Parts: sequence; C-alpha cells; structure tokens
Amino acid sequence: MYSTLFFLLTFFSYRTGGNRPFNGRGPVGLDLDLDLDLDLDLDLSTVVRRVDPRFLSVTIDASLASQERFMLLLRSQRIRTLTKALSPAFLRFGGTRQDFMVFSPQSSQQPDADGSCSRVELSWWLEQKLKEDWIQHQLILLKEDQQKQYHRIQFTELTVDELNSFSSCSGLDLIFGLNALLRNTDNSWNSSNARSLLQYCESKQYKMSWELGNEPNSYEKKAGIRVDGYQLGLDFSHLRKILSESKLYRDAGLYGPDVGQPHSHRVDLLKSLLHAWTHSISMSVSYYVNGRDTSLDDFLDPEVLDTLAVKTNEVLEKVEQESPGKAVWLGETSSAYGGGALGLSDTFVSGFMWLDKLGLGARLGLEVVMRQVLLGSGSYHLIDDNLDPLPDYWLSLLYKKLVGPEVLNVSDSGRNKRVRLYLHCANRKSYARGAVVLLWMNLGRKLARISLPDLIANSTVDTFVLQSDQLGEEGLESRSVQLNGVLLKMVDDKTLPDLSGARLPAAGHVKLPAYSLGFFVFLEARASACS
Ligand SMILES: *[C@@H]1O[C@H](CO)[C@@H](O)[C@H](O)[C@H]1NC(C)=O
Ligand SMILES: *[C@@H]1O[C@H](CO)[C@@H](O)[C@H](O)[C@H]1NC(C)=O
Ligand SMILES: *[C@@H]1O[C@H](CO)[C@@H](O)[C@H](O)[C@H]1NC(C)=O
Repeated sequence: MYSTLFFLLTFFSYRTGGNRPFNGRGPVGLDLDLDLDLDLDLDLSTVVRRVDPRFLSVTIDASLASQERFMLLLRSQRIRTLTKALSPAFLRFGGTRQDFMVFSPQSSQQPDADGSCSRVELSWWLEQKLKEDWIQHQLILLKEDQQKQYHRIQFTELTVDELNSFSSCSGLDLIFGLNALLRNTDNSWNSSNARSLLQYCESKQYKMSWELGNEPNSYEKKAGIRVDGYQLGLDFSHLRKILSESKLYRDAGLYGPDVGQPHSHRVDLLKSLLHAWTHSISMSVSYYVNGRDTSLDDFLDPEVLDTLAVKTNEVLEKVEQESPGKAVWLGETSSAYGGGALGLSDTFVSGFMWLDKLGLGARLGLEVVMRQVLLGSGSYHLIDDNLDPLPDYWLSLLYKKLVGPEVLNVSDSGRNKRVRLYLHCANRKSYARGAVVLLWMNLGRKLARISLPDLIANSTVDTFVLQSDQLGEEGLESRSVQLNGVLLKMVDDKTLPDLSGARLPAAGHVKLPAYSLGFFVFLEARASACS
C-alpha cells in the first residue's frame, strides 16, 4: 500500500516536471521528502537472455583520423591502461566521416614497431601538443557537422597501424568501418579502395572485422547520394565475396549497416537489407535526446529512458520477421545526438542513461551495445580531452568487472518509476557460481529502501554505490564520481584504483541513496540459473 501511494506521487512529479527547469521539488503539499520502500520480485532459476561477453563495447569516431596525427593519441599510456581494463569488448572505428575516408597508402613507409605492446611510446610534449590541438580541431569538426558539409579525408597506413596496435594491445576486437559512399556510375559500390586497404591489412596480418557504411539512411542529407536497401544488400554481398577470397578475412565478421533511429522509412531500409543480405548482424543507432536542446530533467526522466524499449522492440520485431535469429546490436549509442550535451553527457547524471541502456538493452534482447565514444569527438566520451576518465568510464569499468552475460528477471512489486532495476548473474571472473548482481538506480532525491525476498535475504552483499562527489542536485553535473564515498581516480598512468565493494552481512534489505546508481552483488544467492 505504501509503495502504491508513492508510485502515484512520484509519477505525478515527473509528469509535471517535464517542461520546467529542474528544481527537484514536487508540487507544494505533496510530500516527496519521505523515503521510499520497495519489495523485489525475482526469478533465480531462469536465464531470460544471454548477451555477448563483449556486450559493453566502445567506439572511436572516425573524426579522430580527420587529421591523421591525432591517431597518435592512441599511444598514450593512460588511454591504454583505461582501455585494457574494459576488455573483452569490440572497438568500432567509424561514424559519419567513415564514408568520406579514402585510403591513400604512402610508399615511403617507415618500418614499423615489432608489434610489442610495451614499446609503444608517445613523448610527454607530443601528447600535450596533440591534446591542445585536438581541442581546437574539434571546433572545425563541430562546424562541419552543423553545416553537414564533409570533405574527403585521406588516410594512410598510419591510421590502421595505430588502430591495430591500440586494439590488440588493449585486448579489444577491432571493427573497421569502410566507406560505402564510393560509388560507380550505376550507383553500385566501388570496392577498389576497400580492396587496397584489405590487401594492406592482410599483408600486416591484422586481425579485424569489417563494417560497410554508416547510417545509409542519411546519405542523401550528407552527400546527396541515395542508396536504397536493395543496393546496399548487393554491396554487402560484394564485400562478403571479397572477404571470402582472402585467407585471413575469409571468416572475418562483417557487421552493419548502422541504421539510424528507426523511423518508418528506415525500418523499410532495414527490411530490404535483411532480405538482400543475410550473412551477418544488423545494427542500429540510438540516442535518447538532441544534445542541443536537452535538460537535466531528461536525463532523470523514466519516460525518456523507456523510449529505448519502444525503438528497440520495433527493430527486433522487424528482424525477427525477416531474418529470425539474427543478432541486433546498438552499433553507436549514447545519451544525446549531435555530439552529446555539454555538461550533461560528460557528467555524473549521464550514468543514469548509460546504466539503464545497458540494463534494459540486455533485457530486451540486444546482443552488443557500443558506446559512442571511448575518446574523441563531442562531449559523450568516456575519457575526456585531457585523457582523464569521466564518471561513465568508471561505471563501465564496474559493469565489466561485476556483470555476467546471463540476464535474469527482476521487478519491484510496486513498479516504482523512480527506481530502476536489472538482474544478471555476477561475472564469473570476479564471483563464484550462483552469485547474482542487481543493477540499480535511484532517479529521485530521496533514499529508497528495498526489502529483499527470502531467496537472497540471507546473502552477504558486496555493495557498489556510485554517487557524485557533491550531494544534491548540483552534484548531478559533476565530472567526478565516488564509489562508496571514495573519489575515483587513477593512481598513476599505469594503475587503476582498487574497485572492491563494501561487503555487508545479510540484513534483509538494501538502501539506494538519492541520485545514485550502482551494483549489489549477492554472493550466496545460489541462483540455479548462474551455476
Ligand atoms: C572505382 O574507383 C577507382 C578509383 O577511384 C577507379 O579507378 C575505377 O575506375 C572505379 N571503378 C569503376 C567501375 O568505376
Ligand atoms: C518477468 O517477471 C514479470 C513480473 O514478475 C513477469 O510478468 C514476466 O512474465 C517475467 N518474464 C519472464 C520471461 O520470466
Ligand atoms: C534465512 O535465515 C532465516 C533466519 O536465520 C531462516 O529462518 C530462513 O530459512 C533463511 N532463508 C533461506 C532462504 O535460507
């Protein structure tokens, strides 16, 4: 009865809160100052979904290669330490500019490193210079994006060399996005440039997978070229054929295309693609809001978070009809499109959208979710322009450490909107069989208390509570995050801090502080689904 009542009250506050500036106060007279009590329903015997072990994956936007020297940033020790800790994962290199990139090999190539990961070096002064220049260069990129005017980017062996060294030394699986806008007069894909790139990569024995084209649904807007799903299907088959002729890439993954938000005509594009080309996996792009006109409210609005389910189900249903069994990925996804929302996408509050996407995406049946971006363009990066990790990086790192690929069913009996919950088997690299992990977030400004069902009430709990370093609403826009009250920061460029949780004895309930999110691992849940 308690929870039903508060469900109504919080629902009301979100409805009315939609269009006004965030002030966190409910309407006068409705008491939002009371804590919230919830009960859990869960099922520990059934695996509802199983995601790829690389479920949480990352991207590097092709804009980093728009001036090739910026690729050298990938040599930074700090970036490598941060990235390695996210393994296993895919690293997708692509985005709008991939369809403007042309491989122009330089014959006068220097002999490269021996492939040893320990010898890659970037001098301190060059790193500083690149960081400073990159900040300036992003202004140019932003202008191009706003005007939708892109010019051809020539890249050399350096770009693929750096990407391969970076991904293989970090333990990530590289997916390289090929330019699908190189067209013959009959509008078929001109593969000659891709062939020469493949040839080079094969000569270097680079292990990588491929994607063809980024958001073909917007080619007309970006380049004045229209390519329909049928033609793209033929192009994919053409690429598959080229790959099958290569010893090294015969069985290489071929992913894509990255279809944008599924408005009806894009779903049609997806549909004809699935008919024409059925070798591989389809991807879709998903953002919640426009980076230029979003607000703090949106990031905490359960209705905004729920839109992912609508869009994803639309694509999943289409794929199920046309090409059953084919996996669906989010090939490029973040909080806000248009480069993110400065001060939101790069701060603590962004974690609510990110963790909810990971939880809900897995629950719905997505197989991989790729975060735009690991570093580089825009403000939705995990690592900022000074190469420091942002709150979403730490959240991703904890997710990797704690969350296993098996998805279980959980809900709160009152279906409260302010608290969102997901349940997985705990990651077997960190916990013994039978342990489960609850992914949770409290979008509200009051504490929530969850009474645990008998199934897990007697279990020891490892708690991982992420909060801003400042309390209250102001803290939501902080670029720092605390784990169990301790500020997260790197020890040095080679060392990450200890991320162990606070171990609590069984207490029958757990507490979710206001504006917080995190993980509870139930060590002795003895979940049969997780053994
Ligand atoms: C494809 O592009 C290459 C390089 O630009 C060009 O030499 C070739 O003639 C093109 N092929 C066709 C069939 O148009
Ligand atoms: C998950 O739990 C909900 C609520 O308890 C239930 O309605 C639903 O059928 C369950 N789904 C599965 C796949 O077990
Ligand atoms: C949990 O502990 C209580 C009290 O020790 C006990 O009565 C109950 O049976 C236990 N429940 C489970 C599921 O083990």
